[in-house]
Amino acid sequence: VGFAQSEPYRPQVHFSPREHWTNDPNGLVYFEGEYHLFYQYNPQGDVWGHMSWGHAVSKDLLHWQELPVALPEHGGEMIFTGSVVVDERNSSGLCAGGTPCMVAVYTGHHIIGGDSKRYTQDQNLAVSQDRGRTWSFYKGNPVLDLHMKEFRDPSVTWNEPRKAWLMAVALPDDHVVAMYSSPDLKKWEKISSFGPAGDVAGQWECPDLLKVPVEGSAESVWALKVGLNPGGLQGGSGEQYFIGTFDGTSFKRLPSQQENGWTDWGKDSYCAISYNHLPAGEKPVLLGWMSNWEYAAEVPTKPWRGQMTLPRRLSARLVEGKYVLVQQPVVEALHGAELKDASAAVATPVEYRVSLQPDKAGSAGVRVRYDATHWVDVGFDVKRGVMFVDRSHSSVPVAKGFAVRTEAKMLRSLPLDLDVIVDASSVEVFAQQGAIAMTNLVYPPSGQVALEPLGAEVKMRARGWTLRK
Ligand code: FRU
Repeated sequence: VGFAQSEPYRPQVHFSPREHWTNDPNGLVYFEGEYHLFYQYNPQGDVWGHMSWGHAVSKDLLHWQELPVALPEHGGEMIFTGSVVVDERNSSGLCAGGTPCMVAVYTGHHIIGGDSKRYTQDQNLAVSQDRGRTWSFYKGNPVLDLHMKEFRDPSVTWNEPRKAWLMAVALPDDHVVAMYSSPDLKKWEKISSFGPAGDVAGQWECPDLLKVPVEGSAESVWALKVGLNPGGLQGGSGEQYFIGTFDGTSFKRLPSQQENGWTDWGKDSYCAISYNHLPAGEKPVLLGWMSNWEYAAEVPTKPWRGQMTLPRRLSARLVEGKYVLVQQPVVEALHGAELKDASAAVATPVEYRVSLQPDKAGSAGVRVRYDATHWVDVGFDVKRGVMFVDRSHSSVPVAKGFAVRTEAKMLRSLPLDLDVIVDASSVEVFAQQGAIAMTNLVYPPSGQVALEPLGAEVKMRARGWTLRK
């Protein structure tokens, strides 16, 4: 959207701020015809610091207009991750200018005595009466303070059966997601907690509890996702999810579903959260930060650093006796010309939809080729039962640990298909009908790609589209 073409690696169909650093998306909310994207933002530079909420809006989740900083660092408080709700009935008493108003619930990060290693974190409110354009901090902040060092990333939603606001919030060092309830967003009562569970190698961050419709039925399941840093599946930061029930008070894993899944099996999707206040009947939409704490500060982009994943519509599907989250990227509206021949070189961004039959050795894949010496391989090793993306030949030197192959366990009963979205600095793959999402950054020296089968005997059927910016 109006970015200079001279900026190498500038994402064309993914959000990135015009300049400076971003990490997690925050406060995703749909309100009066606009999708809002707030995000962790350093207004002063291209590394983490001075955390504030940047702001962008979109009518279609794809074309973003960047707006001024919404919630600035102020008076020794950095504004960490959180959510935005629409207060329809002025339950908070904060909608002085009329209902509905938007209320942000964010973590305040307070450094003690100028030593960045000493701090406390608490939960706070800010209010907007003008569709998120301007905000005021609530005078009664904080609204939830346990006098703890690590206590952050409130995810707040309205819970209709309970007729109350619900907050899922992380106790990162305890590997716990605590659930709180409130009638007014100001008084919070603890109602349950979940964890430790699944992977606990690093801190738990950015929880989100979502109700996900089961494909082909009127049923839903609940998914609780939580970021893990470090200790993610592929090293550095990553996100696991649990499938279960939520009775209005506590989340419990299904007995049949004790194993965790990963919202993304690649290296570069973190702190994804879902949209609040979507029109009734719409599937949840999840969007994450497309990077990894392992090397986020080293990626070779200028004058910005950090970008978001594509938004993904979520459903759940019973596969081989277990529910898995299925993700469909929101991208179709960008389809330009269909490629006559996917093997011809075209400029990014581009989308390929591929179906594959393995060769005798059990391998089935494609090579996304940038030039004679740079490519990304995507496919399946059927014998080993894995789906993979290999970016070890994709990029200019970036950082230690960047040139990797990421793998996921494939689902034997699902077809070997791939939906591959290639933007200027990413390869986002939705494999096996969206049951595996795998997102990886790349920094290739060329903005052209062509698709080849990986191996002489692999049978590939591919369609491709150029994507409009
Ligand atoms: C996750 C995170 C959050 C925190 C924010 C600070 O990436 O560490 O837990 O709120 O980033 O920028």
